[in-house]
Formats: sequence, structure tokens, C-alpha cells
Amino acid sequence: MSYEAKFRVWRGDEGEGELVDYTVEVNEGEVVLDIIHRLQATQAPDLAVRWNCKAGKCGSCSAEINGMPRLLCMTRMSTFEENETITVTPIRTFPVIRDLVTDVSFNYEKARQIPSFDPGDTEPGEFRMQQVDVQRSQEFRKCIECFLCNNVCHVIRDHEENKPGFAGPRFLMRIAELEMHPADEADRRNIAQDDHGLGYCNITKCCTEVCPEHIKITDNALIPMKERVVGRRYDPVVWLGSKLGIV
Ligand code: SF4
Ligand code: F3S
Ligand code: FES
Repeated sequence: MSYEAKFRVWRGDEGEGELVDYTVEVNEGEVVLDIIHRLQATQAPDLAVRWNCKAGKCGSCSAEINGMPRLLCMTRMSTFEENETITVTPIRTFPVIRDLVTDVSFNYEKARQIPSFDPGDTEPGEFRMQQVDVQRSQEFRKCIECFLCNNVCHVIRDHEENKPGFAGPRFLMRIAELEMHPADEADRRNIAQDDHGLGYCNITKCCTEVCPEHIKITDNALIPMKERVVGRRYDPVVWLGSKLGIV
């Protein structure tokens, strides 16, 4: 049940490179990462690719397959026609280091900028959470930090200039998680809007569409966060309360 597949793989470094054609053996049950590994083993030993778990859990193998942001290890070859040319390119929003490996340090910088969980005076063990709050956090914490959502978001995908002011859906989701956490006492609304660019998001939902963990980023994190920001800024009672320091 083997066949020869046509692959077109981006080779190069720091933005200079080209698509190179290969013909590679494919066996039943294989995923795109298997084919990339076979390429390394047989024809392109210097082909750079980042991976770790081959189980969709480490978030390392993010790439674009036929232009769609995907995990290489979770994309089955059976989803393509045998005579189709499969194009594999690095994720576009972050600078290329070499071949399919990109520098995703932007994301770690953004992560560090978010103030951490603030329990106020609550001591460990004092707080009891409702199941609904537990489930909300659990959904957001399925994130494997593949950064496919940040890669696909149009706000930064072709707009390098927006990167300083926009954390991307992954980290706006983190701010929303903390804002909606009943034990977190920090007010995250201005942080989201002013420091991390929540207002840039116009709810295109591309982030949700590509998330391999099927997290409802837009509906469950970004939209509720926007509603909270609007509540603070445009509700006159809340506005007055915030000015008096009681909201
Ligand atoms: Fe990846 Fe989903 Fe996490 Fe974004 S939210 S980094 S797409 S797992
Ligand atoms: Fe970007 Fe997701 Fe908003 S793709 S525009 S963060 S809904
Ligand atoms: Fe870990 Fe693909 S290798 S998610």
C-alpha cells in the first residue's frame, strides 16, 4: 500500500530560500511528519524541522501545509490525494531560522509580560471553586502552545508593526482566563485592551479554526473579555465607580 508522493518543501534561512521538489515514499497510516523524517533519512539530511512528541501534545511541529497552519504530526497523509503535490512551508508570522524551523520567541516575550495569577490575601486551601469555573480554566489550559493561532491571526500575520502592541489570541486567552478566574484579584481589562491589543481583534475566528486542541478561543475567551472591557469603559455606573476606585 505504498506510493510515491510529490512534496514541495521550503528550504532556506532568514527569509531567503525556495521551494524544493521531492518525491518521497508514503506508507499506510503515516502522517506528514513521517514523510519529512523520511526525506531527512534519504534525500535531505540537513533539512531542519522542529518536533518532539509526535503525538500532538508538545506544540513543536507547527508548519503550513498547502497554506493551512497545521501540526505536521497530526496531519494524516490519507487526507490528501495520492497524486496531489503537498507543499510544506514554515509558519509565516515568525522569522525563519532554517527550513521549517521558525523563531517563536515573540510568544515567550508576550507570555512574560502578563502579570501572573494574583490571589490577593487568599491563602492556599481557603478558596473553593465552582465546577463551571474549573471547566473554563481547564479548556484554556488544554493549550499546547503550538502558536498556530497567533500565526494565523491577520493582525500580526502580515503586519510586523502590530507585534509590539498585540499579544495574539493565545495570550489574550491567558489574560481572559485570569480575568474570569474567581480567585484572581487583579483587574485585567485595561491590561488586555491597552497593553495587549484586544481592540485589534475583530473576531474573525481564524484562531479558533486552526486550534488543534479545539479550544473555543474566540467565543469563550476573546468575546467575554471584550464584553468585560466594554462594561468597564462604557457603563456610566462602572465608569464612575472606577474613577472613585470602588469597581
Ligand atoms: Fe495552539 Fe490552540 Fe494553544 Fe493557540 S490556543 S497556541 S492554536 S493549542
Ligand atoms: Fe485574530 Fe482570533 Fe481575533 S484570529 S482577529 S484573535 S478572533
Ligand atoms: Fe509534538 Fe507535533 S511533534 S505536537
